[in-house]
Amino acid sequence: MPPDSEPGAFTPEAIKARLTTTILGGRVELHQQVGSTNDLVREAARQGAREGLIVLAEEQVTGRGRLGRAWVAPPGCCILCSILLRPRFSTQQAFYLTVIASLAIYRAVGALLQEEQCVHSIGIKWPNDVLLNGRKLSGVLSEGEFSSGDWAFSVVGLGINVNLDQAQLGPLANTATSVSAVLGHPVDRSALLARVLGELESLYLLLQNGQFGSVHAAWVLALETLGKHVSVADVGSMQHEARGGARIEGRALRVDPDGALVVLTSAGMEQRVLAGDVQASGSGNGDQH
Ligand code: BTN
Repeated sequence: MPPDSEPGAFTPEAIKARLTTTILGGRVELHQQVGSTNDLVREAARQGAREGLIVLAEEQVTGRGRLGRAWVAPPGCCILCSILLRPRFSTQQAFYLTVIASLAIYRAVGALLQEEQCVHSIGIKWPNDVLLNGRKLSGVLSEGEFSSGDWAFSVVGLGINVNLDQAQLGPLANTATSVSAVLGHPVDRSALLARVLGELESLYLLLQNGQFGSVHAAWVLALETLGKHVSVADVGSMQHEARGGARIEGRALRVDPDGALVVLTSAGMEQRVLAGDVQASGSGNGDQH
């Protein structure tokens, strides 16, 4: 095997052979180039595809990130994955889908690094970026379709930087990283994806059984944002536009059960942020766009 090649095939067959799941991965598709894997899953869902469909791509030409940004990843080395879910719980708890996706990545990558006795720090930056040694490793974009106030379906999209060296990250090298850059060698994406899906299915079953409290508790433990001095661009607030793009600064106190980050400002006020981008003091924001 050449020194820098991936140690295993990234194919639907290799992924399926490693899956331990019963719902996720009943059907696995891998495309060479697509617009966005989320769009393919959305189309399939509208045609009645079963829960658990996984669509992967080696390259996306119009990959989407949160907050209307693009998601850019070099071809052939990352995990670009969308998953079809048909939740039974209230649409008001939709944000928990993003929570479990980031927790699944956090757990799967954390276990891999631990097995290799790699010294690292891994955590989740509120709401759902997994950071490895302070740099962004992955992002999650969940998109729902609704009918009469209930779920039609949800598409959970994961972008994980896997076999990229720091040089390939180009201008993002200061704020982003990859699994191989931290481990020092390429990793088997099929095996890593199978682990992520295993973790995701366990967490999803908790949600389907109404166990939001335990998922919330696990999320809080993984969040590296709490206790830090943060500056958050609050894009979820109704007053955001009127205030010309509010930034809230202070100490990140807690996350409420609805996912809101509660920040204690220097004026002693608690402010809730429902959606936004956090910058902890002295760090970049790690956006991959
Ligand atoms: C973020 O902004 O951090 C979220 C990025 C999510 C990217 C993934 S890649 C697979 C899926 N398809 C997309 O177009 N986006 C998501």
